[in-house]
Amino acid sequence: MASDIRAIAGAVKHRAPVSDRTLYMRATKRISPIAQDSVPTTDEETGISFQTYTSAEGVSFGLALPADAGAEGGYDIIVQITAPIDIGWAGIAWGGAMVYNPLSVVWANGESVIASPRTAYGYYQPEIYTDGSLELLKGSSANATHYKVTALAKGYSTWTDFDGNVANLDGSAQVRFAYAYSTTPVDDPTSVESTFSIHDSVGRWVHDLAAARSESFADWVEANTVTAPPSNGTAGGFAQQRQRALRQRAPLSGNGTVAREERHPLIPQLRDSAKFITRRQANETAHA
Ligand code: HEM
Repeated sequence: MASDIRAIAGAVKHRAPVSDRTLYMRATKRISPIAQDSVPTTDEETGISFQTYTSAEGVSFGLALPADAGAEGGYDIIVQITAPIDIGWAGIAWGGAMVYNPLSVVWANGESVIASPRTAYGYYQPEIYTDGSLELLKGSSANATHYKVTALAKGYSTWTDFDGNVANLDGSAQVRFAYAYSTTPVDDPTSVESTFSIHDSVGRWVHDLAAARSESFADWVEANTVTAPPSNGTAGGFAQQRQRALRQRAPLSGNGTVAREERHPLIPQLRDSAKFITRRQANETAHA
């Protein structure tokens, strides 16, 4: 393991011998280990109860699921992201990594907000995710200090992974997610298709989806639906048809987990070393 970590950190120049932990910290730079799990919260504005994870920098990610959400995916999700106003954009990677899974990226647009469905096929600008949608609900606004985005996410519990297999978000389990955000504003805050620059920070956490389920889900959606059109132009029939088609497809092989490690020569090694470090430090591997 020690030689692995030195190999990972091979690009890091150092003159004096340093510890494995120092090498790991240099190699992973701003990739944070899992800091905590989700906790129950209730948003007073919408009345919705979430399971919420808050990052060390104060960006929080709340999720609420229907009571019958399970391993087969195919359900809608209410997502609420809040961020300090100096965070240019913040996002969730629903499969726990940047590539080949749906991303939800949000930012402030004056006193309103934008929720942009994205997906990435490499470590570059993510494109619009056309198999799903993010429909803004009440509880979406920005002020001088913070912005808050509350959205109904469709097409985010079933997607196509790197191998072309169907991947499902197990709504009855504790699931590993990833976040990313940047302090640099997006290029065109008015446009859901805006480009934006790379993150300053990425990290992972384990979200208790089983505890995020509620019989009140449908009532919450109904009570908080606004009459404005969905935030992206792809929300209609196409995305829903595509989701139905995905669910009807049998997996080609494997168990439906997301295969993403092949995409980047360094990242899988960083992940492995992260497991090694955090096994000694935190409870991450209990959920991995
Ligand atoms: C212009 C936009 C983006 C660029 C150029 C970009 C680029 C990269 C690059 C080069 C890495 C590799 C390691 C590193 O330097 O940290 C990476 C990792 C990562 N990115 Fe991005 N990224 C972008 C947007 C996003 C978005 C929107 C998300 C999630 C919402 C995201 C999530 C991640 C995560 C979780 C990792 C850690 C490695 C992994 O698990 O895949 N990125 N990104």
